[in-house]
Amino acid sequence: MTQDRLQIRAAAEQDRDSILAVHRNAFGQAEGSVIAKLVDEMLDDASGDPTLSLVAETDVQLVGHLLMTSARIEPDPGQVSARILAPLAVVHNRQRQGIGRRLIQAALHQLTQQGVALVFVLGYPDYYRQFGFRPAGALGLQASYPIPPQNADAWMVKELTPGTINHCQGTVRCSNALDHPKYWIE
Ligand SMILES: CC(C)(COP(=O)(O)OP(=O)(O)OC[C@H]1O[C@@H](n2cnc3c(N)ncnc32)[C@H](O)[C@@H]1OP(=O)(O)O)[C@@H](O)C(=O)NCCC(=O)NCCS
Repeated sequence: MTQDRLQIRAAAEQDRDSILAVHRNAFGQAEGSVIAKLVDEMLDDASGDPTLSLVAETDVQLVGHLLMTSARIEPDPGQVSARILAPLAVVHNRQRQGIGRRLIQAALHQLTQQGVALVFVLGYPDYYRQFGFRPAGALGLQASYPIPPQNADAWMVKELTPGTINHCQGTVRCSNALDHPKYWIE
């Protein structure tokens, strides 16, 4: 198979249907439609400022998508700037080819440039650990809804501004679209 070119770029409004198709494919039939509906809502939800939306594109189609939305920590007198990485998806036949890695690295780079201090994620601990994410609950940063104890390590944080966590503890509040317990199970 010839290796096609892959680029990471900002999503455009006309990508919407293709983005939803990426999530349906990556997450499978049952979960995929739930996630696609959530992404559709998140992209229209101003409370999450969904402006960091990246796609991975080959010559012929979109094969990956990553979305960052805003978060705030309560109580937080210092108003730390934070984001939540959710969701991330790569289509089945292109998984384990470094596409998720490229999307994450590009997003973290942009957030660093913007001066964002913390990034949260609820996902595979072994996957996100390699990008510098650490279990957040043990550091005093609780998820919007309690994560089942057996999945506690899946709620993770990465410090883009070193030292932030030393003076910032509390509960992470997410955008309206993500603010439902069903999305906080892992
Ligand atoms: C999880 C997902 C986003 C990873 O994207 P990907 O493009 O397949 O992953 P990458 O190729 O960038 O993986 C980078 C490294 O992580 C490893 N890795 C991939 N998926 C992993 C997982 N679930 N757990 C642990 N490590 C994983 C890869 O083997 C690779 O290691 P290497 O660099 O030593 O080869 C993708 O598989 C996916 O969309 N899955 C279905 C949807 C999903 O579950 N999304 C939720 C993410 S929390």
